[in-house]
Amino acid sequence: MKNVLITGGAGFIGSHVVRRFVVSYPQYKIFNLDKLTYAGNLQNLVDIENSENYTFLKGDICDADLVSEIFDLHRIDVVIHLAAESHVDRSIRNPNAFVETNVLGTVNLLNTARNAWKGSHNKLFYHISTDEVYGSLGAEGFFTESTPYDPKSPYSASKAASDHFVKAYGNTYKLPFIISNCSNNYGPNHFPEKLIPLAINNIRNGEPIPVYGKGENVRDWLYVEDHAIAIDVIVHKGEIGETYNIGGFNEWKNIDLIRLLCDIMDQELGNSVGTSQELITFVKDRAGHDLRYAIDAMKIKKELGWEPSVTFEEGLRKTVNWYLKNEEWLDNVTSGNYQKYYEQHYG
Ligand code: NAD
Ligand code: DAU
Repeated sequence: MKNVLITGGAGFIGSHVVRRFVVSYPQYKIFNLDKLTYAGNLQNLVDIENSENYTFLKGDICDADLVSEIFDLHRIDVVIHLAAESHVDRSIRNPNAFVETNVLGTVNLLNTARNAWKGSHNKLFYHISTDEVYGSLGAEGFFTESTPYDPKSPYSASKAASDHFVKAYGNTYKLPFIISNCSNNYGPNHFPEKLIPLAINNIRNGEPIPVYGKGENVRDWLYVEDHAIAIDVIVHKGEIGETYNIGGFNEWKNIDLIRLLCDIMDQELGNSVGTSQELITFVKDRAGHDLRYAIDAMKIKKELGWEPSVTFEEGLRKTVNWYLKNEEWLDNVTSGNYQKYYEQHYG
């Protein structure tokens, strides 16, 4: 029996983690704390929202009174912390929001857990982080768990700071923690400001697909449900005080990925292959754009037995089909209508 607090559970990755825990662990009580920013959407959880072991709590991780009330009332044993501002381009436009939620919000959760768990055993603060904390790679090499931190965008700087605070609380106050650093996720419920869902949405609307610079930047892509499985494995088998890198062993140059995605979209839409590629438009590069991320995920494979299960071709096709079947979801999130769902069901 465990009381599990998942933060950011209405977002992209969080919604897959919430669903996995609610469905797989009926003996646990799952609490989803989410502020419902533009990226949080309760439509992502419609299928499990009435489950007996699930409770949604609307609120801000920066609200100290609220967070300690949740710990007191629900006797939280495990925190899986996903709530964050997550988009690099937004962090370039407004870094303060990233400091607020990613740094101060994380420290607020750490303070509460530290106070609530004094003298207790079998607790876990699990912080979900990103490979971007390691900086940018050249053509060769991989990020391992011992790669020095070298964040280069306001987003990655805020995530690196939060990782350091988690480790510092482990060292100073003996807070039981685990951190994982994952590569780029893709799949259902991904907000269409990020490359893959943005491209799918633009192809659907016959609009240009913006590719930054020459499209030479490389990312390592992982299907989101594989990330949720890795998080489950780490909660149950991970070692306290350890860091695990999670990746897809699946590097793609942006331009090659977009060409493949265009072809899959053409096939699924019944267009002749090549039609969507005409929408590709090279635009001004992202400021300080990291060239390449690539994760060495051998530690989690060797020590915990996790590895990706979905191939990229299979995952991309599933993703495209999900978006084409859920055009109303896309229309709602792009028009802001999804907020109405909360008001009607919870307001
Ligand atoms: P997302 O932007 O889709 O979702 C973030 C969620 O957090 C939203 O539901 C939002 O409402 C909530 N939130 C934001 N600020 C909050 C606050 N102050 N209080 C409470 N809730 C708040 O993000 P995502 O892509 O699902 O990423 C989730 C986590 O995983 C983040 O910590 C991110 O850094 C990390 N991560 C993401 C990726 C990726 O490829 N998306 C890869 C590695 C790590
Ligand atoms: O590596 C993990 C990170 O992956 C996560 O920590 C972040 O939360 C997540 O947003 C993601 O960051 P990226 O910046 O890599 O993702 P994004 O989808 O924004 O961009 C992917 C690549 O595509 C990147 O090289 C920039 C490029 N790009 C992006 C957009 C939105 C374009 O060329 N055109 C675009 O319109």
